[in-house]
Amino acid sequence: EHGNPDKGKKVFRKCQACHVVEQQKNRIGPYLAGVVGRHAAAVESYNYSNAMKKLGEEDVVWDEETLSEYLKNPRKFAPGTKMIFPGLKKEDDREDVIAYLKEFSE
Ligand code: HEM
Repeated sequence: EHGNPDKGKKVFRKCQACHVVEQQKNRIGPYLAGVVGRHAAAVESYNYSNAMKKLGEEDVVWDEETLSEYLKNPRKFAPGTKMIFPGLKKEDDREDVIAYLKEFSE
């Protein structure tokens, strides 16, 4: 529950091929600035998969719990997602990267 954001910054290297967190700038994936507390599929300038749009319609909000579930196994949490990433299997890595993402969220 209490991740280490400094360690999370290193974990985030795995995400940087596709995501920016420091600015509101989409890459292969949507920007992650402000993602903690945001509804799924809420970046209007980004073209999400239908799978991710469905989560948004179901009112899924990205918090510690939903982010951890998604990042553990993206295609299990969101079947059909276009995020091609195997997931973070270590719980510590997930908690740390979420703590890092929180630093860029309200
Ligand atoms: C979507 C986090 C790695 C590509 C997302 C979303 C989150 C996220 C939270 C949903 C955003 C939203 O609803 O606005 C992460 C984290 C990563 C990671 C923390 C590293 C641990 C990657 C990698 C890629 C990628 C490596 C590319 C190979 C995408 C794409 C989407 C997405 C394409 C949109 C998914 C869709 O519309 O189905 N990511 N991601 N991500 N990510 Fe990642």
